[in-house]
Amino acid sequence: MIQPYVEPQARTIDRSRTNAATLEVEGLSVLFQGLAAISDVSLTVNRHEVFGLIGPNGAGKTTLVNCLTGFQRPTSGRILLGGDDTSGWPAARFRERGVARTFQAGRLFKDMSVSENVEVTGTGLGLGLRSAREHARALLDWVGLSDKAQLPAGALAYTDQRRLGIARSLVLSPAFILLDEPAAGMSDAECEDLNELVAAIPQLFTCGVLLIEHNMRVVMGISHRIHVLDGGKTIAEGTPEEIQRHEAVLAAYLGMDA
Ligand SMILES: Nc1ncnc2c1ncn2[C@@H]1O[C@H](COP(=O)(O)OP(=O)(O)OP(=O)(O)O)[C@@H](O)[C@H]1O
Ligand SMILES: [Mg+2]
Repeated sequence: MIQPYVEPQARTIDRSRTNAATLEVEGLSVLFQGLAAISDVSLTVNRHEVFGLIGPNGAGKTTLVNCLTGFQRPTSGRILLGGDDTSGWPAARFRERGVARTFQAGRLFKDMSVSENVEVTGTGLGLGLRSAREHARALLDWVGLSDKAQLPAGALAYTDQRRLGIARSLVLSPAFILLDEPAAGMSDAECEDLNELVAAIPQLFTCGVLLIEHNMRVVMGISHRIHVLDGGKTIAEGTPEEIQRHEAVLAAYLGMDA
């Protein structure tokens, strides 16, 4: 069972900066030394949904998330947050305006405590230390890490590190969070817990989720819609039921196993 979440008051923060209802990708392409990692991809994530992004290794999923968070500049195409063109925004601006992410490879401050890892995100976003601590406490309670708050982050089990990454991305209730393979390396039971947490985010935090995940049980179980990339191109978008019987999707995954 997941815990209720009660967001602390933070009057210093201007909420109007993070009120975008959509995160849109329009005709996006990314070339690396002439090689297309993403080719003319368009999609829209809504604030009330879990939007799955799947595809075989090298499909361009992480590159797309890098573009959506200011870590990679698109070669062409646009990204719109609540209709605003984000061209030229650095990563910090995306986060301030309510687009947060986790990384495929963790990127925690391993020598800092679990709580401090969340607090520094809060202070980085303009909260005072006391507010940042309150936010950290509320989020760590919610992800089930409150009893480990004082441990160094590097001492956490891998799956707990994933939870911490999620807690950190949710500081100040962003409009969208982008989760890059949060269930990687987890057992089935651990996946169930994670499913419950991620599935609760849109309602609890009024936050859209873009979920990259290879574990099909996780993606199919909690996504409202799924977008499928293969070799940098869109091959399908639809509900989990539609995607599961989509011929091009089946071919892409069968091709991967062959
Ligand atoms: N910085 C880079 N320089 C050159 N090529 C890159 C760079 N980043 C990614 N690529 C290439 O772009 C393509 C897409 O990579 P990307 O990491 O986005 O795929 P992915 O769908 O996230 O894969 P995975 O499921 O393995 O995480 C791959 O061919 C990859 O080798
Ligand atoms: Mg990736």
